Amino acid sequence: MVADSVSRLEIAGDVASLRAKVAEWRRLGETVALAPTMGALHDGHISLVAQAKKLAHRVVMSIFVNPTQFAPTEDFSAYPRMVEADAAKFAAAEGDLLFLPSAAEVYPAGFASQIITAGPAAAGLEDRFRPTHFAGVATVVAKLLNQCRPDVAVFGEKDYQQLKVVTQMARDLDFETQIFGAPTVREADGLALSSRNVYLSADERRAAPALYRALMACAAEIRAGASIEAALVAAREALASAGFAADYVEARHAETLSPISLRANGPIRLLAAARLGKTRLIDNIAV
Ligand code: PAJ
Repeated sequence: MVADSVSRLEIAGDVASLRAKVAEWRRLGETVALAPTMGALHDGHISLVAQAKKLAHRVVMSIFVNPTQFAPTEDFSAYPRMVEADAAKFAAAEGDLLFLPSAAEVYPAGFASQIITAGPAAAGLEDRFRPTHFAGVATVVAKLLNQCRPDVAVFGEKDYQQLKVVTQMARDLDFETQIFGAPTVREADGLALSSRNVYLSADERRAAPALYRALMACAAEIRAGASIEAALVAAREALASAGFAADYVEARHAETLSPISLRANGPIRLLAAARLGKTRLIDNIAV
């Protein structure tokens, strides 16, 4: 465990050091929150630290670019990695401990288990386009929860289906950790912050807020009494005219993620994934 010279920030590279630090806090009667991330931290990730600080005495953030949640065709090797800048941001947010496990620490030779998720993970959203994704997410999150054994863990609503999958898994498998969601942090023009936004060209970056605008317009139409299906069709058209290739734009029950066709059966969540050039963006909002 290495103490950062400019702050209280500590860094653990393996599970034993993480657990030693957490045990030290527990002896003092302190509670612990975990915010799992893949790094390239932005204000969305940092908002999780702020949320976590409200829920527990100590905040652990993990940074691990988890290979098992990327399909072979996806951006695992290109995914941005910038641990020193991340450590500075986490320290500035007054987080307590960064957990930076190696791939060998998380998946040692002989590793062979996997958590298979259903329910929200089979809602026909991300799972349709990334069929192996949520098994990778659920497995790594289960491991992180067991490694840290936090009182609470915080996940962003930005990845709404992920939040629901993790909540379901924690409930189904009797994790004691309470799962909390945190609202999506956006740029001034509405684009949800994402580590993948760095892939956007200048032109794509200018077009990107159309995703949020299409969801906002869709929600407004539904609230004004339009049929959900008609509002979704209009949103898909708006995305196409802004230059997006949409994977999906859907309305789901906000809790179960099951399909919903009447507003009265809500609460409704609108969820979308769309590609702008080579970059795939996801977003979602409440109706
Ligand atoms: P990552 O994409 O790095 O996101 C880490 C956490 O930050 C997630 O809970 C995500 O929902 C949240 N987050 C990202 N952008 C946000 C924004 N604009 N506003 C609020 N929160 C935001 O999600 C993952 O990593 C991984 O799948 C992980 C859970 C770490 C498992 O590997």
